[in-house]
Amino acid sequence: MNNEKYSFYLNLINENLSSYVPESLNNQDVISEAMLYSLNIGGKRIRPVLTLEFCNLVCGDYKKALPFACAIEMIHTYSLIHDDLPCMDNDDMRRGQPSNHKKFGEANALLAGDALLTHAFSAVSSANDVSPQSIIKAVSILSECSGVNGMIGGQVLDLKNEGKTVSSDELLTTHTLKTGALIKAACVLGCLAGEADKRQIESAGLYALNLGMAFQVVDDILDVTGDEKTLGKPIGSDSENEKTTFISLYGIDKSYKIAKEYTLRAVDSLSVFDNDITFLKDLAFQLIERKS
Ligand code: IPE
Ligand code: IPE
Ligand code: MG
Ligand code: MG
Ligand code: MG
Repeated sequence: MNNEKYSFYLNLINENLSSYVPESLNNQDVISEAMLYSLNIGGKRIRPVLTLEFCNLVCGDYKKALPFACAIEMIHTYSLIHDDLPCMDNDDMRRGQPSNHKKFGEANALLAGDALLTHAFSAVSSANDVSPQSIIKAVSILSECSGVNGMIGGQVLDLKNEGKTVSSDELLTTHTLKTGALIKAACVLGCLAGEADKRQIESAGLYALNLGMAFQVVDDILDVTGDEKTLGKPIGSDSENEKTTFISLYGIDKSYKIAKEYTLRAVDSLSVFDNDITFLKDLAFQLIERKS
């Protein structure tokens, strides 16, 4: 993801994220610290970048989508904090640093995640440059995609299937929900901030779900072939937890081909947009070659 526009969006997100974490009153400083820790230790910021770019694509003004973009990254970060907990994937490293629970303890990690999720909705409601109707739609999409019919639903399937043989269809459902759904929210919220029409919103959703599948397939590949330092999180976590992944079903080479196919489908779904889709197209191809 080395291009100027990506760096510009990334810096904008990094400069603004912390402002959505409220200063804690009543001596609960540790929770603000734990929230800021995981938000600020990095991350590729792919989801909020997508939010800004879709807004830019439909209305030419990415700034309108900044509160939505920050909300998405807060929810994503919370999902990672919880995903690393001993009762879930039990991973000690995240974004190149000790996982939140390693630094602040399990109870605080749990609460910091909860707080990030809650404040994400406050960030959405603070979008001053977006119409009230679009804010309401954004709340609805974000809760649907993050909740039991989205990311949480996928995480439940992911845990339920540990140690079991899972069919390719079930794996597809799991990946679509646990990863695709939040990426869909990211793209659709960008469209909503830019007051996009129905056709554009549908296409953004399709791009996102295909990109999300490719993204999770590559995440599964990197769990086997990645370098821990570059990746910033442990490798071998999936096999240790006896997860079915694209690698355990198809092997590395076929999985890579599958990721490529989803990427091509993602790019195809952008054809309804009149404006320049180069950034979204390049990003999709860069993501399958990523090393972290
Ligand atoms: C990791 O997401 C979790 C998955 C859904 C695969 P990212 O690879 O986007 O993680 P960060 O935000 O860059 O740390
Ligand atoms: C996580 O999938 C998806 C989430 C919703 C957080 P993984 O468990 O494979 O993500 P990593 O590899 O720990 O980042
Ligand atoms: Mg997991
Ligand atoms: Mg994990
Ligand atoms: Mg993984």
